[in-house]
Amino acid sequence: MGENAELRVGDQVVELPVVVGSEGERAIDISKLRSQTGYITLDPGFANTGSCKSSITFIDGEKGILRYRGIPIEELAEKSSFLEVAYLLIYGRLPTAEDLESFSGSVIHHTMIHEDFKKFFAALPKDAHPMAACSATVGAIATFYPDSLDPRDERHVEVSIHRLIAKLPTLAAYAYKHSIGQPFMYPQNKLDYVGNFLRLMFGNPCEEYEPDPVIRRALDLLFILHADHEQNCSTSTTRLVGSSMVNLFGTISAAINALWGPLHGGANQEVIDMLAAIRDEGMTGRQFVERAKTKDDTSRLMGFGHRVYKNFDPRARIIKKACFDVLNKLGVHSKLLEIAVELEEIALKDDYFVERKLYPNVDFYSGVIYNAIGTPSNMFTALFAIGRLPGWIAQWVELHGDPDFRIGRPRQIYTGPTKASYQTVGER
Ligand code: SDX
Repeated sequence: MGENAELRVGDQVVELPVVVGSEGERAIDISKLRSQTGYITLDPGFANTGSCKSSITFIDGEKGILRYRGIPIEELAEKSSFLEVAYLLIYGRLPTAEDLESFSGSVIHHTMIHEDFKKFFAALPKDAHPMAACSATVGAIATFYPDSLDPRDERHVEVSIHRLIAKLPTLAAYAYKHSIGQPFMYPQNKLDYVGNFLRLMFGNPCEEYEPDPVIRRALDLLFILHADHEQNCSTSTTRLVGSSMVNLFGTISAAINALWGPLHGGANQEVIDMLAAIRDEGMTGRQFVERAKTKDDTSRLMGFGHRVYKNFDPRARIIKKACFDVLNKLGVHSKLLEIAVELEEIALKDDYFVERKLYPNVDFYSGVIYNAIGTPSNMFTALFAIGRLPGWIAQWVELHGDPDFRIGRPRQIYTGPTKASYQTVGER
């Protein structure tokens, strides 16, 4: 007999089943609450609400643990590759050598986009934010492939997955090339996934481009670290939008927009802009931290704090170490990294941050590496999206395979005017 929770509502006591996860997490199943009591629950920001059962990613926010399909992020960061992690997340197991060769080969052969996308980009302003360009063009992919849009057709889903993972880097790179007035590069199938992206971004038709192995490895690592993070804002968007049975392209377009927000994936751009402002205004780290603590000052210490992690974000630890490795190998000195380290040291000893359990998150150091490899700050969140895409896809596939699948439609507590009558203009 499973565990139950008792809830007293008015003069009624109801028993609600308790769901226990594989890591011992517990949830009270309230799916019968309204029919039994007439009550609903209320949880702004869903901080106490589980939207689903999932076997993809496990986070323990108190212990700073992150695992993809049970494998610790530290091991994947050290031993795996981004496409291998993408396969693990989407298909639920590490690929065999043959699986990985077939998956990588299929992705590489789908990296080219329809020539008509050039007209699409030509219509965008030069200063169009790459996240706007990415969400618009990812949504538009659906118009080029009306033959593979059915979320319940396995073949359609498989082809759409490969097309999306292949084409998002191309679309992101084209958004960048459009913004700097350079010609679009065609993908080269002899390059691997990350090398191809680097060439699309930084290559040009006038000379050969060889991806720097240090940069290639750094970007592969960053994509791994961003690949999934259970029910974050953009993944919850993926599940809610996906539950309407819209195609995968339309779903991912919505997820890209959710990620763009400065409180979510957009924070990596905000962090580097924050570090640059501190540098350019000659502020000390202490001066900025004091501003970030002041309620009426809108400044926040961007890249700090997390809804789930009340300890170090394990990804931030790995990225901070990678910052030093990459910059040393590239022979680059980064004043921004110095400022970031100073801010972290100050904040971790400051009661305001300690009491609120605010630690560096994935966005705090990632921009330092993106900046060091020559990426403009408005492209940072597009890189986050490339990394997160396999996670969104894996969660969407799990949603559609869930026996409890139904369209997401939350309730509300109405606080507006009670019954009122229409007044004619003369009566108002
Ligand atoms: C990502 O969910 C995920 O998993 C997301 C992500 C992923 O991989 O998908 O990990 C990626 O989005 C990381 C987060 C990136 N965002 C930022 O770095 C923006 C700065 N951080 C915050 O705005 C904030 O910490 C959030 C949005 C991340 C979390 O917000 P919460 O959980 O709603 O917490 P809160 O805003 O209610 O803050 C609690 C308190 C408040 O102070 P009090 O009202 O208690 O006095 O902490 C303060 C906040 O003012 N606070 C900060 C702060 N973050 C929280 N104060 C200064 N600087 C900060 N960064």
